[in-house]
Amino acid sequence: MKLIVAVDEKWGIGRNGDLLLSIPDDMLYYRATTRGKVVVMGYTTLLSLPKSKPAPGRLNLVLADIKGLRVPGAVVCGSMEQLHGMIGCFHPDEVFDIGGGSMYRQLLPYCSDAHITKMRFDGEADTYIPNLDELDGWHVADESEPKDHEGLQYSFVVYHNEAPKPLTMAEDLSTDMSAYFKKKEPVTIALVDDEGYKAELKTLLHAYFRPLENGFSADEVEEYLDGEPIAFETYLKERRLTASFDEVQAYADRYVGQGEAVTVTKEELEVIDAFADGEITAEDVISKLKQ
Ligand SMILES: NC(=O)c1ccc[n+]([C@@H]2O[C@H](COP(=O)([O-])OP(=O)(O)OC[C@H]3O[C@@H](n4cnc5c(N)ncnc54)[C@H](OP(=O)(O)O)[C@@H]3O)[C@@H](O)[C@H]2O)c1
Repeated sequence: MKLIVAVDEKWGIGRNGDLLLSIPDDMLYYRATTRGKVVVMGYTTLLSLPKSKPAPGRLNLVLADIKGLRVPGAVVCGSMEQLHGMIGCFHPDEVFDIGGGSMYRQLLPYCSDAHITKMRFDGEADTYIPNLDELDGWHVADESEPKDHEGLQYSFVVYHNEAPKPLTMAEDLSTDMSAYFKKKEPVTIALVDDEGYKAELKTLLHAYFRPLENGFSADEVEEYLDGEPIAFETYLKERRLTASFDEVQAYADRYVGQGEAVTVTKEELEVIDAFADGEITAEDVISKLKQ
């Protein structure tokens, strides 16, 4: 796995539960580096994200010592052991530790690379990470030109760990989380008044437009890790917690021709829910979607 962090000149990373400083260019670098990846974070860091919500376009694994916690859009791990189990389900290059202090400290030995934004100032931090310049086995592999943000100097540095501790890898690695990350395209469905069809379609549309909308709890992680080896994305798809465009469309296509066809976007999902729940008719759907 890898980690990504912004540090001040004392390797400070945060104060009062927040970042020391937010540099727009660094935020873009962070987004580009972690997009489509698995991001691992502590609960405090989750709370510090915009609206305290999981980062979209990434599979969010959150470590929290809070029994029964569910975080919409995220997988909650209740112990370091569970988190290791989940990390081991993905290729190590796909997994990024995004903080905070406790997560960097615990997972640093397992990281092969560290993307460090070095900011040349003292942020008077209360949370730090180890100084990689002084840590055995770590060396600078890449460094950007010095950059400037409103008079503050910073640079992007990549450190490489010569001997990361091996992670215990699952037998069946997850390789394709596209159902989770993909930008959601509209799907065409048929307005068929069959209860079984409506129920299945509703579940599939939710899995497609709002994957993991009810979260995935530590109890569910336990159940998953205890079961037969199966890639995580396959497990989520089987449980109808994520779905791909092809999956939804293939199911809906079987019914096109049997009822009026409409195209649904994420925003229109509520209208389709009301139809699936028998609250409105197919005619209502058509008039609402035409508005
Ligand atoms: N500069 C950057 O790039 C950057 C990036 C991310 C975060 N940060 C900063 O880092 C600071 C937060 O760091 P932090 O160390 O306070 O918090 P953190 O690592 O984000 O999260 C700590 C949380 O994780 C839980 N946790 C940690 N290890 C656990 C374990 N082994 N088992 C179960 N639960 C565990 C803790 O539960 P318990 O307390 O109950 O053990 C706690 O709820 C903030 O200031 C944030 O802004 C900076």
